[in-house]
Amino acid sequence: MSYPFQITTIEQYHEDYKRSVEDPEGFWSDVADTFEWKKKQPFSSRVLEWNFTEPKVKWFEGAKLNITENALDRHLKTNGDTPAIIWEPNDPNEKTRTLSYKVLHRKVCEFAQVLRNNGVKKGDRVCIYIGMVPELAIAVLSCARIGAIHSVIFGGFSAQSIADRLEDAGAEYIITCDGAYRGAKDIPLKSIIDDALIGNKTVKRVIVHTRTRTPVSMLKGRDVWWRDEVDAVIENMHDEVLDVPAEVMDAEDPLFILYTSGSTGKPKGVVHTVAGYMLWTTYTFVNVFQYQPGDVFFCTADIGWITGHSYIVYGPLLAGATGLMFEGIPTWPDAGRFWNIVDKHQVNILYTAPTAIRSLMSYGLDPLKDKDLSSLKVLGTVGEPINEEAWHWYDEHIGKKKCPVVDTWWQTETGGILISNLAGVTPSRPSWATLPLPGVQPLLVDEKGEEITEFTDDVMSGNLCMRAPWPGILRTTWGDHERCRQTYFSTYKDLYFTGDGAWRDEAGNFKITGRVDDVLNVSGHRLGTAEVENAINMHASVIESAVVGYPHEVKGQGVYAYVVLDGKRRKEDDELTKKDILATVSRIIGPIAKPDKIQFVSGLPKTRSGKIMRRILRKVAEGELNNLGDTTTLLDPAIVDEIKEGKL
Ligand code: WT7
Repeated sequence: MSYPFQITTIEQYHEDYKRSVEDPEGFWSDVADTFEWKKKQPFSSRVLEWNFTEPKVKWFEGAKLNITENALDRHLKTNGDTPAIIWEPNDPNEKTRTLSYKVLHRKVCEFAQVLRNNGVKKGDRVCIYIGMVPELAIAVLSCARIGAIHSVIFGGFSAQSIADRLEDAGAEYIITCDGAYRGAKDIPLKSIIDDALIGNKTVKRVIVHTRTRTPVSMLKGRDVWWRDEVDAVIENMHDEVLDVPAEVMDAEDPLFILYTSGSTGKPKGVVHTVAGYMLWTTYTFVNVFQYQPGDVFFCTADIGWITGHSYIVYGPLLAGATGLMFEGIPTWPDAGRFWNIVDKHQVNILYTAPTAIRSLMSYGLDPLKDKDLSSLKVLGTVGEPINEEAWHWYDEHIGKKKCPVVDTWWQTETGGILISNLAGVTPSRPSWATLPLPGVQPLLVDEKGEEITEFTDDVMSGNLCMRAPWPGILRTTWGDHERCRQTYFSTYKDLYFTGDGAWRDEAGNFKITGRVDDVLNVSGHRLGTAEVENAINMHASVIESAVVGYPHEVKGQGVYAYVVLDGKRRKEDDELTKKDILATVSRIIGPIAKPDKIQFVSGLPKTRSGKIMRRILRKVAEGELNNLGDTTTLLDPAIVDEIKEGKL
């Protein structure tokens, strides 16, 4: 496979960037021509139709395709035996599995037929809750093959969170497995699904893959085994070659829903559509990482998050690449696990998160001893701002100063990378994401939405927005288009607002400084403060609470909760009550949302109009007690002293 759209020099980057802005339709049509379409777009229609008022974004509407034919079928003739997925199990003593494109194609066809046999049709929502085993990728691709909309849920979410998502998506089908291995833990996924389904009336079928052989309850008429279903398909096909025809999809048909947290209320279902997402993930994968055929690409994310969707499943497979999929965690059985994998599979490109780097840094250099990392060519990071110390450690000790480090900034909503250096093509700079990709038009605005054009101390600083749509932008939030408009397109007129603050230098490089809204980034996982507060407030003794982030050495941000308890509080039970609150949050959202610190307070600092002054709470959580700013507008300024002293 060759990539006609691969940028190989800095001059070409600037030329392509310019053309992508001046002639987006021509530019992306050329990229689109490198894919296989069942029907090209009618000549009478526009390649791109958009406005950010409704908002409406349509790329290549009217063209027909199936993304799995591009990710699988088209590689079969020349690259059928190329490894598509190399799977490394949680336990290093268990056998690696390698699925060639031929094998993956066959497995996807078989399972797509299983889905059809179970009544799944185009447009139906299928919830997927499986650990990091190849069957997860197979399930995702099988949905895409028959046009069903997948919604993958990360294994760290609770039954309650799953139930909310099932309801919001109106999902009638679930694909899960008995359990998932993660380090020393064994998470009983099917049993969590069973809890999520108590009282549920819409789910018709649960297909269960076996991984851990954890005992599970199987309900007659609802639950079936993956193995049995696939066996039945194979038997009925006799010896014929199984090739399940791919559903004809419009370019703008939804491909998947992925839930993500925002600053208010419940998580929303971000919707991506087939063609734009296909173009964007392939284009960014090939260009940012400078992928060359034969390279082994290891993205350490979980497929339950957007990074896994775009850079474990879709981007690499669409590019005919070899991806490594890892079931476990970086620190089990020891902190050398990643380096073992790099050595064992001769990984060429490693893509991970700053939080993982910081965590591994804390183990020192011992875990690197006797590990051959010389296969590495490119290193990448994603998920949160990377601090310079972690950047340099990664560059020096992992890349041995010979691998470009790409700092890739993007979001669930953007489908793929928007701002990043291109490995070895455009320069890297510690803790700067650097330049926008072709098609991406960032700008910084002030509180009023006025574009910032003045430099102070060599940089401009403001809220990061986008002027125009790139192919991978979200199209809507599932079932609630108004919420999509409100969240992303109403803060600043005619702009997409990212929720991030950033700096820009004179050369046009960007450095992302972090969220400017009430969204936390804990170990690269996105959490809404309101969402965590709602969960804490569910605890029987809690009157109200306020959640803020604070700098955390490994997680980037930690969760700090100020909690007001009711009058029945017994001081001697405080430690137990804190644990009860943690258990409550685990039940409501999932273990990933548990606060790192809880402080009981007698009240929250509020203005006379009743607004919580989070600025003050943030300062206290950060330990900046002497610089709290103006507190005179507070209803009860004495509260601040109590909170500062941390005594109640
Ligand atoms: C938020 C999006 C994109 C995949 C993983 C997270 C932060 C992401 C970077 C980076 C600084 C970053 C932003 C963004 N973020 N990458 N390279 N430098 N910050 O996806 O859960 O949708 O979170 O993650 O704050 O808005 P997500």
